[in-house]
Amino acid sequence: MKPKVLVTCPLPGGVLDRLQPHAEVEVYTSSEPLSKSRFIEKLQDKAAVISLLVDPLDEEVLSQAPELKLIANYAVGYDNIDVKAATERGIMVCNTPDVLTEATADLAWALLLGAARRIPSGDQYMREGRFSGWEPSLMLGSQVSGKTLGIVGMGRIGQATAARATGFGMKVLYTSSRTLAPSEESALNAKRVPLGELLQQADFVSLHAPYDAQNHHMIGEQALLQMKPTSYLINTARGALVDEAALVQALREGWIAGAGLDVFEKEPAMAEGLRELDNVVLAPHVGSATIEARTAMGRLCVDNVLAGLNGQRPPTLLHA
Ligand code: DGY
Repeated sequence: MKPKVLVTCPLPGGVLDRLQPHAEVEVYTSSEPLSKSRFIEKLQDKAAVISLLVDPLDEEVLSQAPELKLIANYAVGYDNIDVKAATERGIMVCNTPDVLTEATADLAWALLLGAARRIPSGDQYMREGRFSGWEPSLMLGSQVSGKTLGIVGMGRIGQATAARATGFGMKVLYTSSRTLAPSEESALNAKRVPLGELLQQADFVSLHAPYDAQNHHMIGEQALLQMKPTSYLINTARGALVDEAALVQALREGWIAGAGLDVFEKEPAMAEGLRELDNVVLAPHVGSATIEARTAMGRLCVDNVLAGLNGQRPPTLLHA
């Protein structure tokens, strides 16, 4: 009998074709969000699941999935999974690192440039037919070249975002759990500093830390007040790193100049007042949304499932 695999959403790129001969694959295709109780029901007889970052794989779910051997999360972030509880139950947990690094760093830069140069406002202005000719003071934004970029979380995506700053002649300040090698720091023109110093000095603060309970709302009122009134906050990591209500106040009252957000604490909802502000660029959690990255993520999930169900070590197995 083939092992049963649940895929909680259709995936682009035809990536499941390679799985079909080896497993009985059930893809959840309904437009109704998969409720927790339905998720538990569907996991009953499944040996593996390809999950999304919105699928809760907590103790309650894991304890009711008796056949589950492997979780392949279709994301690099895995804050939707209780990895410790899964590991204690002998369930392997995998994510999709590396393959989405460049796409996500590109989007961080798209938001940074879009916010600094007011691209969405300009686009709207043109579509409304309001452009009446060149003016010295029209749509003034902030210069990016030569400024200071603050990277909060210098992992793979943080480093890829910093690497792009070299083309803009920027200085990079970063926070991280480890200091980069001197050669890496000099290639990126980067220096590790405490968060407070980064917030006070950076012209652009870009978040790339994984989310956990310890860094919940790490960018709240206090942090925003430390940033320069001419600075911008960019978030392509996780929404809950930022206190959105405090950010709305900061943007409204000019504590900072602007923001570019791809992630929100309570997706798909946003904090009240955010959408009315014209100094924030908003995107619907599309950091990894390139055909190339999403196809590679799906392939990696399939590789993980095939290896794990075959008794081999999955290529991107996480540890508790
Ligand atoms: C991730 O991978 O964690 C992103 O948020 C979605 O690609």
